[in-house]
Amino acid sequence: MIISPSILSADFSCLEREIKAVERAGADWIHIDVMDGNFVPNITIGSCVVESIRKVANIPFDVHLMINEPEKHYKSFARAGADIITVHVEATNSLYRVIEGIKEHCKAGVAVNPATSLRAVENIVDEIDLLLIMTVEPGFGGQKFIEKMIKKVEEAKKMIGSDIYLAVDGGVNENNAPMLRKAGANVLVSGSYIFKSKDYEKAIKKLRE
Ligand code: DX5
Ligand code: ZN
Repeated sequence: MIISPSILSADFSCLEREIKAVERAGADWIHIDVMDGNFVPNITIGSCVVESIRKVANIPFDVHLMINEPEKHYKSFARAGADIITVHVEATNSLYRVIEGIKEHCKAGVAVNPATSLRAVENIVDEIDLLLIMTVEPGFGGQKFIEKMIKKVEEAKKMIGSDIYLAVDGGVNENNAPMLRKAGANVLVSGSYIFKSKDYEKAIKKLRE
């Protein structure tokens, strides 16, 4: 099980310290939530921040683009040091082209919002390295996990098999992690559960258990 802490819930005044702390605590990847105030209501991190924190981090960067027209921006995140770039199926009219473009630089993922059917990605799964099932409406950390998404994770697992990562993002905590694992998820993104806990190592261990 890969644990990818979302730094959206970290203390932005000391990102280096936060990143090093989750690395020490056993994180596998760092999840970076990029929001444009358009695809989602919130605005967060740009590629210049990714470039800076790349210098102080040792583990892979899992960059989640919650932006419209990701074709305009994925290259700057690739150059900034992303190891995986995930775009939303709802955010582009040229998903194939974007995925092919990303794969020239790093691994490529596709994310689906809670209300989006898995049918929207069935024609692209052979091209991607990671499928991300959103378990909250994207835009903010700290939201409540949508239970109904467990079934979607099971269906996604059947659809993709075991060659590509199956990630879940939103409201992941120690209570739903066992169900998500059982449903077939092998990457757990978790923001507030990890960063709002007092002991990051314990939190990551509990998610992994
Ligand atoms: C939500 C983001 C998530 C978020 C997860 O739009 O994509 O990655 O940071 O945070 P929690 O785990 O607090 O729901
Ligand atoms: Zn995310």
